[in-house]
Amino acid sequence: MNMKDAVVVVTGANRGLGRELAKESLARGAKRVYATARKRESLDSLVKESPAAIVPLVLDVTDERSLAAAAEVASDATVLVNNAGLLGSYGVLSSTLASIREDFEVNTFGLLAATRAFAPALERAAKKGPKSAAVVNILSVVSLGNLPGLGGYSASKAAAWSLSQALRYELGKKGIDVIAAFPGGIDTDMVRAMEMPKTRPEVLAANLFAAIAKGELDVAPDATSEEVYAEFVRDPRAVERRFFTMAG
Ligand SMILES: NC(=O)c1ccc[n+]([C@@H]2O[C@H](COP(=O)([O-])OP(=O)(O)OC[C@H]3O[C@@H](n4cnc5c(N)ncnc54)[C@H](OP(=O)(O)O)[C@@H]3O)[C@@H](O)[C@H]2O)c1
Repeated sequence: MNMKDAVVVVTGANRGLGRELAKESLARGAKRVYATARKRESLDSLVKESPAAIVPLVLDVTDERSLAAAAEVASDATVLVNNAGLLGSYGVLSSTLASIREDFEVNTFGLLAATRAFAPALERAAKKGPKSAAVVNILSVVSLGNLPGLGGYSASKAAAWSLSQALRYELGKKGIDVIAAFPGGIDTDMVRAMEMPKTRPEVLAANLFAAIAKGELDVAPDATSEEVYAEFVRDPRAVERRFFTMAG
């Protein structure tokens, strides 16, 4: 996928990885980025950096009306980056069911709802030729094996991986690529309190777009994910053992 002249929608673009994905899209030649967030004012500082190319839009991935309104404005979108995410649940028995459901609402159903909302625009874009339209799903290494300390969140990200495969089939028939990214720890608010190796979000964004430019569809965009993804391909149970050991 070539980002030159792409029109990119990024969910959760106000902070963390999403903000860097919006900036990296422009650095790679996108002509416009619809930077979306739940609160319009949270995008002010990002818009200030490139006011001619960044269009702020309000979008909550759990609210179908807000998705429909955003998709109407961003009807020229060629790439959708499903980045918005929530880590609100931990152990599957110790967390409330409500908090696990909330993670699924954002990470799983939100990803699907956003993709459905922008699919018509992406279909139009795909008619311009191969590699003209794509969905980029920000999953996680915990999509590949459950990290029990984050059991509910991991399950929501594993379901998002399964949805990515379903979308790869259904959207693939329409000429739209579905890219699945499996990052390890990223240095953002989401895991601020957790001790683990973390990649800077701007480095992660650059690595991800470099892999997409090479045509990769499953992307391990950092050292941890490269190791875990290779292990997953060899022996999925080894990933399970690795994460069980990490959980103690
Ligand atoms: N950090 C990590 O170690 C790590 C590792 C692997 C994968 N990831 C994934 O990377 C993505 C970005 O996470 P991050 O690390 O940048 O986390 P973050 O700093 O916590 O940012 C999360 C973003 O998602 C947005 N969001 C949450 N709920 C939303 C909703 N209902 N509708 C729209 N936007 C919503 C947040 O908006 P508000 O500001 O309004 O809350 C924020 O912009 C997520 O999908 C996450 O699961 C993160």
